[in-house]
Amino acid sequence: MKTEVVSSLDEPPSSARVAPAAHTPATCRVATPDDLDELVRLERVAFAKEDWFPRHRFKELIETPDQHAVLVHPAGASRLAGDAILFWRKGSATARLYNIVVDPEFQKGGFGSRLLEYAEDTARRRGCRRLVLEVRANNAQAIAFYQRKGFRHFGTLAAYYPDGTAALRYEKFLNGILAAQLELVLV
Ligand SMILES: CC(C)(COP(=O)(O)OP(=O)(O)OC[C@H]1O[C@@H](n2cnc3c(N)ncnc32)[C@H](O)[C@@H]1OP(=O)(O)O)[C@@H](O)C(=O)NCCC(=O)NCCS
Repeated sequence: MKTEVVSSLDEPPSSARVAPAAHTPATCRVATPDDLDELVRLERVAFAKEDWFPRHRFKELIETPDQHAVLVHPAGASRLAGDAILFWRKGSATARLYNIVVDPEFQKGGFGSRLLEYAEDTARRRGCRRLVLEVRANNAQAIAFYQRKGFRHFGTLAAYYPDGTAALRYEKFLNGILAAQLELVLV
């Protein structure tokens, strides 16, 4: 998980308005400053300390949404079920999913799937046709999730994380477009 990727994200993609989970009426949306406490909480319940995304970085991303988005899935009026961080870059066909996380209490309830779909829709709306990500080589749960969602392993970065763990690089071509049909620009 966790480089950086344009225009305002005032309108949510259409997929954000479909099929809410059985136990929440909320749909995915772009984060606001009011979400900061919950975004920080999610980092703490789901990741080891060395992987926590800092509050000031969340704040920066929310306040300058030109080449990135923090996407959230509410689980009620004041609680988030999960979030995702997406980067893109003008002129690049590749967006990067920097992170996706669902509160362990809400996992296996479809929140991660809807957040990923929202991230993919957001990337498409920014003109991207390919989504890439890095995941810890020992994160079996996330790897299985990405593979089920159509991501393909295309590279490994040795000792990528501070504790020496390698990162596996995964990619997904949005709208089923093949690599050979694209001029790819890696993020
Ligand atoms: C990876 C992650 C985001 C997936 O989120 P999630 O909300 O659990 O994902 P989903 O619920 O959409 O899908 C997971 C499973 O739940 C199942 N599921 C989906 N909706 C369901 C429902 N309504 N009822 C029961 N099961 C359901 C899915 O079919 C899938 O099942 P499977 O594992 O047997 O195939 C989550 O595991 C997570 O936050 N992990 C820790 C953080 C992390 O490592 N992030 C990745 C960093 S690179």
